[in-house]
Amino acid sequence: MAGRRAVCCGLTSLEVTLTVLFMLMTSVLIGLITVTVATKNIQTDAEPTLSPSPTQPQGNPYLIGVGRADCTGPPADIPLMGYANLEQTAAGIHTRLYSRAFIIDDGRKRVVFVTADIGMVSQRLRLEVLKVLQAKYGNLYRQDNVVMSGTHTHSGLAGYFQYTLFMITSKGYIKPSIQALVNGIVKSIDIAHRAVKPGRIYMNRGQLEDSSLNRSPHSYLNNPQQERDRYKSNTDKRVVVLKFADLDGNGIGVLSWFAVHGVSMNYTNRMISSDNMGYASYLMEQDNNAGLLPGQGPFVAGFSSSNLGDVSPNTRGPVCVNTGLACDYLNSSCPVGGTKMCHAYGPGKDMFDSTMIIGHNIYQKTKELYSGADQEVKGPLHAAHQWVNMTNVPVQINVTHMARTCKPALGHSFAAGTTDGGGDLNFTQGAVEGDPFWDGIRDTLFGEPSNETQECHRPKPILFNTGEMSWPLPWHPEIVDVQLITIGPIAVVAVPGEMTTMSGRRIREAVKQELESEGSLRVAEVVIAGLSNIYTHYITTYEEYQVQRYEGASTIYGPHTLSAYIQKYRGLARAIAQNKESGLEKGPEPPFFKESQLLKLLPAAPVDRKPANSSFGQVLQQVYPVYRLGDVVSVTFVAGNPRHSGDVRDKTFVTVERYLNKTAQWEVVHTDASWETRFHWLRGSARQSNATVEWHIPASALPGRYRIRHTGHCKQMKGLKPVITAYEGTSAEFTVTKTYYYH
Ligand SMILES: *[C@@H]1O[C@H](CO)[C@@H](O)[C@H](O)[C@H]1NC(C)=O
Ligand SMILES: *[C@@H]1O[C@H](CO)[C@@H](O)[C@H](O)[C@H]1NC(C)=O
Ligand SMILES: *[C@@H]1O[C@H](CO)[C@@H](O)[C@H](O)[C@H]1NC(C)=O
Ligand SMILES: *[C@@H]1O[C@H](CO)[C@@H](O)[C@H](O)[C@H]1NC(C)=O
Ligand SMILES: *[C@@H]1O[C@H](CO)[C@@H](O)[C@H](O)[C@H]1NC(C)=O
Ligand SMILES: *[C@@H]1O[C@H](CO)[C@@H](O)[C@H](O)[C@H]1NC(C)=O
Ligand SMILES: *[C@@H]1O[C@H](CO)[C@@H](O)[C@H](O)[C@H]1NC(C)=O
Ligand SMILES: *[C@@H]1O[C@H](CO)[C@@H](O)[C@H](O)[C@H]1NC(C)=O
Ligand SMILES: *[C@@H]1O[C@H](CO)[C@@H](O)[C@H](O)[C@H]1NC(C)=O
Repeated sequence: MAGRRAVCCGLTSLEVTLTVLFMLMTSVLIGLITVTVATKNIQTDAEPTLSPSPTQPQGNPYLIGVGRADCTGPPADIPLMGYANLEQTAAGIHTRLYSRAFIIDDGRKRVVFVTADIGMVSQRLRLEVLKVLQAKYGNLYRQDNVVMSGTHTHSGLAGYFQYTLFMITSKGYIKPSIQALVNGIVKSIDIAHRAVKPGRIYMNRGQLEDSSLNRSPHSYLNNPQQERDRYKSNTDKRVVVLKFADLDGNGIGVLSWFAVHGVSMNYTNRMISSDNMGYASYLMEQDNNAGLLPGQGPFVAGFSSSNLGDVSPNTRGPVCVNTGLACDYLNSSCPVGGTKMCHAYGPGKDMFDSTMIIGHNIYQKTKELYSGADQEVKGPLHAAHQWVNMTNVPVQINVTHMARTCKPALGHSFAAGTTDGGGDLNFTQGAVEGDPFWDGIRDTLFGEPSNETQECHRPKPILFNTGEMSWPLPWHPEIVDVQLITIGPIAVVAVPGEMTTMSGRRIREAVKQELESEGSLRVAEVVIAGLSNIYTHYITTYEEYQVQRYEGASTIYGPHTLSAYIQKYRGLARAIAQNKESGLEKGPEPPFFKESQLLKLLPAAPVDRKPANSSFGQVLQQVYPVYRLGDVVSVTFVAGNPRHSGDVRDKTFVTVERYLNKTAQWEVVHTDASWETRFHWLRGSARQSNATVEWHIPASALPGRYRIRHTGHCKQMKGLKPVITAYEGTSAEFTVTKTYYYH
């Protein structure tokens, strides 16, 4: 079936086939992440040292601009992107998602760095954003000078992909989802563009402990001893901070990089959430846009992902949940119950608490580094970009031997389930041999992988032969973006996936070496911007790949993937060092599959119903009259499906309002973007649904009279026509007091 039919024809046959594939895949596809046992720290670090720098600004300032825009899509029915769990569909909002853009111009050249609260940037998303930018700004914002990175939250929406594998876990191409992202990202660039003015950038860096853990220490240990000896830890603890300031020295924004997975919220979460990195942004922006609601104010704080491939935020580590024993070190399975029982937790008491702790740690360290940032970043800007056909890159292994990258494929351990969400099937991490049972199913469904591809991926046993499957559209990309920008002595490597700790270190070292090879550039810092531009799963070192844990099994272009990338990024760095990046070969253009739009597997949201004698927005479950600080206020309304609200960016489904005696008005103190509020959308039977709004009253809340409002839209039949109307509902008033109170 797969690979033997061209993309074609009507939606119905596609739909049927994909639905079948869907069901098959759900049971097999388990997660994009996995966590395991921690290992102890090793030896002393060999951080490069920075020469001390003058604190007085000197030299020409840059032109800089920062911008932030809401990119939250419809918070209902759409699968969340990350755990590849089709049951984990959106049902409300915990925190909103934002795109944050940073523009830097040296008078000659301009670069843009975007970090968005999403799982990853996809090729489709990037192409659509660049198309809009081209129409708006002509040749100003391009392939080469715009970097787009995702924070890797696993609680953003899916639906913005064009390759079949990702579309299966997304329920197809979901227009309202991708539109929110395209429009949000473009708007953040628009705002930054309009704000551009002379300013300066300062750099600082430090180490953040107790906020990350290597989840595949066994793979890491397969790296050469002498390489490991150069580093103190098996994850990168570094936080790199760029402070953006105007000419008066006032901070206007900050960009921070730290390597950790956005999986503090686990797969049981159904609310849209920006996870730990998003919470760090939230805190830093709340600090600097004092008194404003989240998402408002000029100060922009971007927290970018990095080489987080093998890095988990679940710092208490994995444990067998049924027995309390340690999981197996090599394959993360439990004596009883296997892989599924091995689960990582912490550091908090639940996932909200864990998100808060990790996010707060990252924020706290960044804030400290931001305050102390005094090394001015000076010098010209460079931007280099290429498209690479990753299926067949020759790699020089040693003086006598060449190897090649492979057509994409995922190994058995990809489906091994993860310690953040165990596999439902009997796959185990570390599999270097296939299983006749699953290989048989694979061959029946998709055809046997070619001998060439099997050989190429060795020792990976192939489970999904995605590189040889192209029906209804190719399952994985062949053409991949490699991109490097430099801002004076700072280099930003835009990586198209999730690099492991050691992969990131190798890339950084190679890029630094090439950039400095001409003697004209002195590099202070190379940062990895993860999940950038296009998603290609994981990138491990050759040695880690041999172990075939989850990350190795998900290194889709085979054992030499990292070596190929090192070669390509070296090429970009050399071009920059020689000031010849405009002469770089562009490479083969990626495809833009118009047909992907036809893969709509999410049915339209149906008409809403309500209980007899009620109206939309009516309160079903009322608030109590009095609460004290630390309590949770809860109110339930008759609701419509949030998908009927269309474009929900810059709106809110929820307000918490406080009565002001002085003006006799209600003032909004929280929206659905606030950490303190939770908007749960609950679908019931007979197309009825509820909105339950919670307010977790913070210790900082002022005593007084409050109320909670919910706004939404419902779809009803008026005669034969479905009509969408706005509704709103308001809770009874309640008092928040500092005094102790029993309900
Ligand atoms: C995992 O590895 C242990 C040895 O460390 C082995 O006893 C066990 O059978 C393995 N589990 C699976 C499911 O392969
Ligand atoms: C997810 O987090 C919740 C608490 O917030 C916890 O009850 C649940 O056990 C966690 N589940 C997994 C699979 O980690
Ligand atoms: C990538 O390279 C492979 C092998 O050389 C080739 O078959 C394929 O057509 C190329 N893909 C694209 C999109 O150019
Ligand atoms: C080069 O690599 C090949 C393949 O790994 C190996 O067989 C050969 O011995 C290596 N040669 C040298 C000179 O290291
Ligand atoms: C997984 O389950 C199937 C069906 O029960 C069985 O045939 C196969 O051997 C199992 N594989 C492993 C690795 O246990
Ligand atoms: C792989 O090679 C074996 C032995 O040469 C052959 O029998 C088999 O048909 C080949 N498989 C494929 C998929 O080409
Ligand atoms: C709805 O209201 C009507 C008129 O007030 C009343 O007769 C009926 O019993 C109510 N139905 C329900 C289910 O409350
Ligand atoms: C607001 O006005 C009410 C009634 O006039 C009064 O009881 C209350 O103390 C006032 N609250 C504040 C915070 O001034
Ligand atoms: C909606 O709320 C009412 C009142 O609390 C409850 O009886 C009903 O089960 C809820 N429906 C859903 C879908 O949660």
